[in-house]
Amino acid sequence: MSLVPPGIETLRPYEAGKPIEELAREYGVTNAIKLASNENPLGPSPLAIEAVRRAVTDAHLYPDAAAYRLRERLAADHGVSIPEVVHGNGSNEILDLLVRTFTTGDDHIVFAEPSFVVYRLAAMAHGVPFTAVPLRGLTHDLEAMVAAVTPRTKLLFVANPNNPTGTYVGRAEVERFLRLVPPQVIVVFDEAYNHYADAPDYPDCLTLRGAREHLVVVRTFSKIYGLAALRVGYAIAPPALIDYLFRVRQPFSVSSCAQEAALAALDDHAHLTRSAVLNAAERPRVQAALAALGYPAAPSQANFVYLDVRRPSRNVYEALLRRGVIVRPIGSPTTLRVTIGTPEQNDRFLRAFAEVMG
Ligand SMILES: Cc1ncc(COP(=O)(O)O)c(C=O)c1O
Repeated sequence: MSLVPPGIETLRPYEAGKPIEELAREYGVTNAIKLASNENPLGPSPLAIEAVRRAVTDAHLYPDAAAYRLRERLAADHGVSIPEVVHGNGSNEILDLLVRTFTTGDDHIVFAEPSFVVYRLAAMAHGVPFTAVPLRGLTHDLEAMVAAVTPRTKLLFVANPNNPTGTYVGRAEVERFLRLVPPQVIVVFDEAYNHYADAPDYPDCLTLRGAREHLVVVRTFSKIYGLAALRVGYAIAPPALIDYLFRVRQPFSVSSCAQEAALAALDDHAHLTRSAVLNAAERPRVQAALAALGYPAAPSQANFVYLDVRRPSRNVYEALLRRGVIVRPIGSPTTLRVTIGTPEQNDRFLRAFAEVMG
């Protein structure tokens, strides 16, 4: 007999992007660049670094479990009230918390495939049945997702823009979808990459909260704010849902350094703009270069591109690793995801990719 429930027996741990240090250890490659985890190539805001330096002097004190000042600031910035905001140890913690708080093995979850893998991992870890709805043309098939809802469905996840494809669903389609999903379902829009989306009809789901009661919008400080290592994410939802999440969440999961860094990052508009401008310039340049090499990437609204290399992407990944470029084989056996870096990093990737693809 297994020691663990079946969902955990078959679970494989989350496969993170390879750290630069690991590449140095395993392959003896120095000077590697990592374009594997959609991090901000410009680093954290200098204001956030200063805030951490100041906050670390109080490392002997527990953090504010309610993250009052951070939640107050987020509420003010988004035009909501404090009881509508919950913080988490990265948005990962919040995604997992949603599953733990609102579902049991008698319920059902809907998400897309391929999409952010944590939805599947959380469902499996907590023994909740799920339906993974295939993307259509690399984009969420919202109609099929509505059709996948059963009377048992409690949670439905949409990553917009989607990871790993970078594609998005537009405002009109999302509005229709929010009205079509039965009211008992908690719809979660995971907007980890919202700041990179520049399509005129990209919907900020915080503006669509009137369309349905059970809507949760999840955001993170790990991407454009450059604070992935500090682990801060948050969700905005009706107070009744946030209240349940607070009952289940670990009280001290977001450190004081992380709370202070997030607050400082919100003040650094220049860093945010620099990061968005860099991505807006480099993403089309990388896409054009890949297309010229015969490997067009999917249209992306995020800080990464997704392409079919028409051969096992593991092999391409390995060959790029040997050239000191870490990307991510993900999505299908022949697809790769590559984070948009600085111009120099992107040039290095494009040179290595051209070499590997011959
Ligand atoms: C769509 C999506 N959601 C959530 C996350 C989780 O980010 P974090 O836990 O660092 O906030 C990621 C990270 O890659 C992501 O791609």
